[in-house]
Amino acid sequence: MRPARVADAPHMAALVTSQRTFLAPFDPPRPEAFFTVDGQRRELEQLELAALAGSRHRFLIWLAGDLVGWVTASNVVRGPFQSANLGYAVAREVNGRGIATYAVGHVCDWAFGEGGLHRLEAGTLVDNVRSQRVLEKNGFERIGVARRYLYIDGDWRDHVLFQRIAESG
Ligand SMILES: CC(C)(COP(=O)(O)OP(=O)(O)OC[C@H]1O[C@@H](n2cnc3c(N)ncnc32)[C@H](O)[C@@H]1OP(=O)(O)O)[C@@H](O)C(=O)NCCC(=O)NCCS
Repeated sequence: MRPARVADAPHMAALVTSQRTFLAPFDPPRPEAFFTVDGQRRELEQLELAALAGSRHRFLIWLAGDLVGWVTASNVVRGPFQSANLGYAVAREVNGRGIATYAVGHVCDWAFGEGGLHRLEAGTLVDNVRSQRVLEKNGFERIGVARRYLYIDGDWRDHVLFQRIAESG
């Protein structure tokens, strides 16, 4: 795993295009440009600026030279909160091999080490058992259900919120 770079745009465009149908039930609405190399270059340029500002960090997951997923720590808030939100995805073809579990663990290590954070939060759709397992296996605890929490796949959807605190997990 390594931080995303602008030069990764062709790989990201290929991945989001091949996973478009798989990820649609978990994603906000995406403009067509999101699935193009130019659109991904713009996304990655914004990410690079956000990483420099310390507000958002994306790590890419590579398997035998292929880009197969990512983990993003976003909404980094400092001060007395020292918290961020985690989002992640792994290509359907390589699901069930422990890749997301490993990748989330890697980003937890970064967040609670170099990242200097105290807390990570993640929200999953209520029926996204796979994602809930990934969080549980990484020491996240369930906070509860947040009603109509995120606009996903065309509606405001309830999410189960999880957190992990630096000292636990
Ligand atoms: C969720 C996601 C990241 C999981 O990736 P992955 O690499 O397959 O995850 P892992 O292999 O590390 O772990 C998956 C866990 O779910 C379990 N699982 C898989 N399919 C399942 C199913 N249909 N029902 C219940 N559990 C299931 C696996 O057995 C494993 O748990 P275990 O180790 O206790 O057996 C991937 O499916 C994905 O990208 N989904 C779409 C996007 C998404 O949901 N992102 C997260 C938003 S919160």
